[in-house]
Amino acid sequence: METIKRTKVKALLTMEPGQEVLAKGWVRTKRGNKQVKFIALNDGSTVNNIQVVADASLFDEELIKKITTGASLAVKGELVASQGSGQSVEIQAKEIELYGECDPMRYPIQKKDITLEYLRSVAHMRLRTNTFGAVLRIRHNMAFAIHKFFNDKGFVYLNTPLITESDCEGAGQMFQVTTLNLNEPLPRTKKGDIDYSTDFFGKQASLTVSGQLEGELGATAVGEIYTFGPTFRAENSNTPRHLAEFWMVEPEMAFYDINDNMNLAEEFIKYLVKYALDNCMDDVKFLNDKYDDSLIERLQSVIGTEFVRLEYTDGIAILEEAIKNGHKFEYPVYWGVDLQSEHERYLVEKHFQKPVILTGYPKDIKSFYMKQDENGKTVRAMDVLFPKIGEIIGGSEREASLEKLETRIDELGMSRKNLEWYIDTRRFGTVPHSGFGLGFERLLLFVTGMSNIRDVIPFPRTPKNAEF
Ligand code: 4AD
Ligand code: MG
Repeated sequence: METIKRTKVKALLTMEPGQEVLAKGWVRTKRGNKQVKFIALNDGSTVNNIQVVADASLFDEELIKKITTGASLAVKGELVASQGSGQSVEIQAKEIELYGECDPMRYPIQKKDITLEYLRSVAHMRLRTNTFGAVLRIRHNMAFAIHKFFNDKGFVYLNTPLITESDCEGAGQMFQVTTLNLNEPLPRTKKGDIDYSTDFFGKQASLTVSGQLEGELGATAVGEIYTFGPTFRAENSNTPRHLAEFWMVEPEMAFYDINDNMNLAEEFIKYLVKYALDNCMDDVKFLNDKYDDSLIERLQSVIGTEFVRLEYTDGIAILEEAIKNGHKFEYPVYWGVDLQSEHERYLVEKHFQKPVILTGYPKDIKSFYMKQDENGKTVRAMDVLFPKIGEIIGGSEREASLEKLETRIDELGMSRKNLEWYIDTRRFGTVPHSGFGLGFERLLLFVTGMSNIRDVIPFPRTPKNAEF
């Protein structure tokens, strides 16, 4: 069998007929009659299968019986022009080796049209489906494109810590990391607080909610950096757009103001969407045809359109106008409110019908590090809002003034002492700088057209779920 080298299915499908080939993979389906069997074989290299045609008289009846959906095989034979429609070549099998049987009574993804909800309940096996194959390949391509985009621009990939003592977003949504024995009474200080001096890090430590603050240390040293790694948030929101463990891309750039920041964000997303259309069309088309037949159109439209740039204050006016005209929102709208996803989606999907970058948010609903506007009320924040997703990017120009930053930290009752290392960036050679965070899974929701964030990450972590 192994006298010739195995060729992946993706390559086989583009090869000229008339050669001897060896294919390996898992059986998707088997059909046919007594004389001839048609086996659809897939190895994950592409969403498309290679058809194997087996003359039943050449093979042991027992072997043929064991070729069921999910079984793993090696097939040697001649690559020939296909008789049937749907594929240009197929393999006329000469030898078949069965690696592993797959009991049709027990294999959980045996049936054809199974729902995404059901697949989540057999998440360890769902990666074997065409849908998840497509999602995983697109996910990989997007990760690669992110590195390529920044590398081509001369950004440095900075690895920021996952375990940290600081809460970047100040939202108190951190998962604590401790080696204290939770079965025993915890060590206490004289005041009665937990005494972390005996804990592993000698201080209270948590999983990071963002690499931004450390990213700023990098950007104010080597100019332009990006991070790309896991991020953790203990927010108890069971929504189709939130994960407790998600991946975030955070570029941070010295000498960028908010406009440079917006320009980069828009260029970045367009680059990624175009990359997907140029490099993952088979998978995108599969998802388009199976789940969402406006997907390709939506992707193309984002590349070709200029994002709207809108002040928060003007956004609120549009929403208030909508209410006057009879539109009903579940949550209230007034200047100062933190926008809900229904509001964001109204602006993007109904009002403008294209992506919107919203800027100039009230400072009270945004983080401490954002650059304050002259008016004392708003900050140079920017959220990029997308159709079907809502917020896909959050970022800002950063407050570069030492005095203003310290005052804001005090106002919010945060500890300056814990942030001395961060404040030093403003103390020593401070510069205007900006950055943003792209939620990798939010991007994937957009690019794959999937509607639940649990279906664009292989092993989702959500409230009450950390399986595997
Ligand atoms: O808006 P966020 O909270 O911004 C930050 O963390 C900044 N420090 C980023 C920066 O300026 N460097 O999060 C950024 C993005 C959001 O726009 C969203 O796409 C994604 O991260 N995100 C989540 N994705 C999945 N599940 C969650 N629970 C998410 N929370 C935020
Ligand atoms: Mg945000």
